[in-house]
Order: sequence, then C-alpha cells, then structure tokens
Amino acid sequence: MEIESNFGNLVEVEMGKEIYEGILLPSPDSGTFLLKLENGYNIGFNKKEVLKIKVIKKINEKTKEFSPPFSKDKKNVAMIITGGTIAARLNPEKGGVDWLTTPSTLFRFYPELFEKVNIKKIEVPFMKASEDMDYKDWQKIAKVSSQLLNDPEIEGVVITHGTDFLHYTSSALSFFLRNLNKPVVLTYSQRSVDRGSSDANLNLVCSAFAATSDIAQVMLVGHATTNDDFCFAMPGTKVRKMHSSKRDAFKIVNSLPIAKVFPEKIEKLSEYNLRNKNKVILDSKFEEKVALVKVYPGQNPNILDYYYKEGYKGIVLELSGLGHAPTERARMGWTKKLTEVQKKGLIVCAAPQTIYGRLDPLVYSNGRELLETGIIYLEDMLAETAYVKLGWVLGHKEWSTSRDKVADKMLENFAGEINKRLVD
Ligand code: DGL
Repeated sequence: MEIESNFGNLVEVEMGKEIYEGILLPSPDSGTFLLKLENGYNIGFNKKEVLKIKVIKKINEKTKEFSPPFSKDKKNVAMIITGGTIAARLNPEKGGVDWLTTPSTLFRFYPELFEKVNIKKIEVPFMKASEDMDYKDWQKIAKVSSQLLNDPEIEGVVITHGTDFLHYTSSALSFFLRNLNKPVVLTYSQRSVDRGSSDANLNLVCSAFAATSDIAQVMLVGHATTNDDFCFAMPGTKVRKMHSSKRDAFKIVNSLPIAKVFPEKIEKLSEYNLRNKNKVILDSKFEEKVALVKVYPGQNPNILDYYYKEGYKGIVLELSGLGHAPTERARMGWTKKLTEVQKKGLIVCAAPQTIYGRLDPLVYSNGRELLETGIIYLEDMLAETAYVKLGWVLGHKEWSTSRDKVADKMLENFAGEINKRLVD
C-alpha cells in the first residue's frame, strides 16, 4: 500500500503477530512513519519491517468543497462553535490541529449531523479551550444565543465547547438567558473526530436532534454511558465533569436527566420547560469579584482577609459534610473570621464539598455555630453553579446592596439549580 498518500487515514499496521490501529502520520525520517494510537501516543515503524498496512477509514480525502445539503422538510438549527476537541481535527501534514468551523469542513467530518436538520447558521464568537474562558466569554455566547433564539427561522441552538469548564458555561447560560423559548444544547467531545473511538458524532447528532425538540431549557447533551448508543439531556445547572477522559464524563448531580436522546428519538425522563413563543431576554450582568474556595483541614482562615482586601464582594466556600469548616475548637478556627468579614460586607455562601447531597447546618453544633455567622447555605447547589450564580446575583445592583436580598436571590430557584425533591 502507498504510505504517503494515506497520511491522515485510520489504518491497521501488521508487524509479525501484532496488529496496531491508529492514524498514519509522517515522520521526520523518510525510512519510518508514525502511528497515532487511540490513547493519543505516537509509535514509530520502520517501513521495511512492516508486513501489511490496511486502510480502515479514509479521513484525509483531499479538500474538495463539500456543501451541506439543505431541505425545506428539515428543521433549521443554528450552531455556535467556541473551540475544544469537538471542533478540532488532527492535521496529519503539520502534526497540530485544524479547527472545524465552516459548513463545508463540518459537513466533511460530521456528515451525519446534516441528515436530520439544516444547519442554517454558524456563529464563531471565539475559538478557545474552555479553561481559557471566563465570564466575558459566557456573556458573548449568551448574546449570540439570544439573537439566534429570537430568530423565528431557528428552532434551537447547538453550542460546541471544550469539556473542562463546560459546566460553568452551561450554568451561566441557564442564568443569563431569561424567558427561554427554545432548546439551548451544549455539547462536547473527549476524543477528536479523527480518532477511531471518537464520541463526537453521536454527541453532535443527538444534540442537533435535541435542538429541534420541545425542551426549552439550557442542557448538556452527551454520552450517557461509555457505549455509542444514546445520550442524556442533562440540566445545565446540575451537571459536572466527573471523569478526565471517559466519553460519559458528565454526570447529573442531585437531579435527573431531562431525556434520553437517540439520533432519531427522544424519551422524556422528567418534567421540563416547554417550547414557547417568548422573547428571550439577555440578562448577563456579572460581578467579577467573586471566588470559589475549598475548605480543607488545618486551613488558615486569614485567606478570607486576602479576598476582602482585594475587593471581593462574595465567596462560595466548599464546606465539608453537611456544611462544616473548622470552628474555634480547631487549632485554626474559622468562626470569628467569618463573623468579622461578613460584618464588613463580604457575602459568604456555602456549597457541598461532597458534591452529592444537601447541606444541613442544623444537625451538628459546629454547623449551627457557622450558620450564626451569617453564611448563606445553598442547599444542594453544585459549587461551580453557586460560583456562577453568585457572580450573576451580585452583578445586579438592585439585589447586591442588601445581604438579605442576596440571600433571597441565592435561594430562589431560577434555573433548576436547587432540587427541593432531593431525597438521598
Ligand atoms: N482542555 C480542553 C477544553 O476544555 C480541550 C479538550 C476538550 O475539548 O475537552 O477545551
């Protein structure tokens, strides 16, 4: 088999009794070539020692313009592309990655995406890894989303995003997009489309389908299991990345999936907000001076002085168990310092470090002591969601000037972030 013309394709390489599968890549030494394995590592082969190379999947077809099909019988969906693995493919010639941001490149690598829907518009506000994003990026995504959602020709929006901080963005959109009328679907992939085991296709196809559904919510659609069979639609404020590499990396915390999403059918699993004719209101005000701090054994409470002196307005503390931090019985107690900084105006909220379950500061005397300092206990809210929500609440002048008003708003359920029905 011609090696050079197959760079970029998925191949099987036979070496004695061993068979290796991966993407064929050039090597600096012309007598050898490389194979990018499923696990991401490259291995080198001497051309002369290889018995056989077989193409399994042609990925590198040289670029002719691919134009996606468009049909009046299909529903129109808009896409917002922001970066991450789902929008990248390995460039076999350069060794780096190329971004997939145009209709033709998307169609070339994700043809199934265009089978059930028309991708009517593609917006690319920026291209970033999600760990490089912050609230200003969430505001940009929310603005573009609100415009698309208020376009009568668009049935729903699919947002592709890196995985690491995806749950912060899904929370932010859940608060920023008020009066939601249509589906807003965030999706991702853990492995790029050029890898044999990529999760990108199923996630994208299910997301596009969910974007045409009657679920008018911000949701994350991604692999429900490690198999390639169906996805879950997960509530944007109750989801968290729980695995660094598995396809079903995102898990719902303290809530239930909205639906099971297959490429051509949706099975409803819980109540949701229905598609409607509202006009979406963009409400993306955000106070930058908020922090998320995990409390650990022996931690010095003077860290709170640091945040106060730096002009922070609010902190979410990840407290242990039912909502505890070291009290004055500890070598370095937190109770006095918490009282002091809250008297000076710093808002302190608490979210569960255990991730699963609800806070209850009334069970132990340590919890009661901390509650008396003024901490706002956020029930079963995820710490990441609480951080985003605190920035959003404090971004509103009409709320932020009164501690009691902030507490009311933090405990008001705006987007399913508090689950009153949580039983265990
Ligand atoms: N660091 C990742 C990100 O969150 C890139 C890979 C991915 O899509 O997860 O953007």
